[in-house]
Amino acid sequence: MKTVNIAIDGPSGAGKSSISKAIAKELGFIHVDTGAMYRAIGLYALRNHCAEPDLIAEQIEKIDIELKFIGGVQRVLLCGEDVSDYIRSPEVSMAASKVSAVPAVRKHLLDLQKKIASENHIIMDGRDIGTVVLPHADLKIFLTASAEERASRRYLELREKPDCPPYEEILKDIQQRDYNDMHRAIAPLCQADDAVLVDSSEMGFHEVVEHITALIKEKLD
Ligand code: DC
Repeated sequence: MKTVNIAIDGPSGAGKSSISKAIAKELGFIHVDTGAMYRAIGLYALRNHCAEPDLIAEQIEKIDIELKFIGGVQRVLLCGEDVSDYIRSPEVSMAASKVSAVPAVRKHLLDLQKKIASENHIIMDGRDIGTVVLPHADLKIFLTASAEERASRRYLELREKPDCPPYEEILKDIQQRDYNDMHRAIAPLCQADDAVLVDSSEMGFHEVVEHITALIKEKLD
């Protein structure tokens, strides 16, 4: 079966995951959040004190990552354990950013990502989907927004929580992760030559979903 593959890349906090999820629901596709796979490896590194590049590379063959889709919603399994609810903390974010720069980690996940894409109609989001994982994707989107806009969206999401960090700290964290993702030696975050740029700084959530859905429908017609 020829499967439809849509690649959505962009920096942290651009809304890739929630937007991809909404589009996938609308089109009846599977949404694959590749960041969750790196996060699961980041969690393993924290739990086993092996976040340093040499240590995680040594252990990588033991780290079994699996995705399950329950009612179209992705769950990520780390060595058989569903860790989906434990991978969103700031500590895991930083660990994921660190381990994602290790070539052995990326290689470990690449085959799995390609396999899922070859077997399903998918919207896959990440940093290197259009450039490395699915270079022949049917459509590539580079979804971005200014760092300030991404930080203020995150701040609005968190501000009711008792431990909400100040806006400046959130902005600094986003800028640090952008720098890490764009400057690593392997599969850095960058826009593929044939990707469509969508800057959502001045757009609402539904507007972005409608815009990208229309681009996909146009492409598949
Ligand atoms: O999208 P996210 O914030 O959940 O991603 C977590 C980390 O994983 C982030 O630092 C970038 C990295 N990542 C990556 O290197 N390549 C991908 N395809 C997806 C995520």
